[in-house]
Amino acid sequence: MTELEKIRRDFAERLGSARSPSELQEVRHDFLGRSRGRLTAFLRSLKTLPEGQRRAAGAGANQLKAELEQALADAEQRAVPAAAAGASGLDITLPGVPARPGAVHPLTQVRRQIEEIFLEMGYTVEDGPEAETDYNNFTALNIPPDHPARDMQDTFYLEGGGLLRTHTSPVQIRTMLSRRPPLKIICPGRAFRRDTPDATHSPVFHQVEGLAVDEGIGLADLKGTLLEMGRRLFGQRVRVRLAPSYFPFVEPGAEFSVSCFLCDGTGCRTCKRSGWIEMGGAGVVHPAVLEEVGYDAERWTGFAFGFGIDRLAMVKFGIDDIRLLFDNDQRFLDQFRGAS
Ligand code: DAH
Repeated sequence: MTELEKIRRDFAERLGSARSPSELQEVRHDFLGRSRGRLTAFLRSLKTLPEGQRRAAGAGANQLKAELEQALADAEQRAVPAAAAGASGLDITLPGVPARPGAVHPLTQVRRQIEEIFLEMGYTVEDGPEAETDYNNFTALNIPPDHPARDMQDTFYLEGGGLLRTHTSPVQIRTMLSRRPPLKIICPGRAFRRDTPDATHSPVFHQVEGLAVDEGIGLADLKGTLLEMGRRLFGQRVRVRLAPSYFPFVEPGAEFSVSCFLCDGTGCRTCKRSGWIEMGGAGVVHPAVLEEVGYDAERWTGFAFGFGIDRLAMVKFGIDDIRLLFDNDQRFLDQFRGAS
């Protein structure tokens, strides 16, 4: 066995039993140290060799030196944290269990996108409680106790007279009661209705409410606002359609749709061959609602809109069952990693 082979073997043995940084330091001194290093001594001795042998031995020695340096460096790197673990016996140098990074829920992605669109248009984002009063959810919105519109919204009533809000519209009332016009707000949030769950119904769902009150604003401003939202959500080619409808808190009231972003309005599965995707309700705020919150309806006008985010997310991501949005099945949610 040559001297270099012996050095390599002895080094491997010593390195194998060295644990702490100071033990590794010892190994380094014994093999690579300036004064007592065995390999250093070998390299030094090369000059005594005859010219012919010196070249080959020198190359082998230098290669070994590089090997030892690398092996020591690796060992030193591992040794530092291991030493830090100290007496606890915890080996923090073991490979970890990879962390599964979370993904933003598809509903949250859509909600944030909507918030961004309206923040850029100068709206503020407001919040309101899910447990509401009958007054905020119905009466102040021009839906008095015997109004038939109450039947459209099968309500969860709470003991003591409250209810779970059936839409996010009560935030209109809360905002107007606490602020003076002009104002422009949206309110994303949960709403509740006594629906039996199926692919398109859930007793808890999500809406965004919008309200603008100012001087001299009306239906055209509403349509322009919805168009801007539609374009930002689905692309510049999208058109918006308002069709007459009835909601007690707006007059005129409308149902609004956006042209289908998948087929460009020619008809496909997503828009059920109609070319339009129904979004929600909207209209010009009823003077009775403005008067109810103490606004001068001769001076101030406004528009409002409300739509479901669950359906929007379903259309956008091609989800065919609303319940998937609430099950929190990791296999489903994983598909939305980095989707927007
Ligand atoms: N709150 C209504 C609902 O949930 C939606 C709606 C319609 C909101 C018209 C509005 C509006 O602000 O003006 O069915």
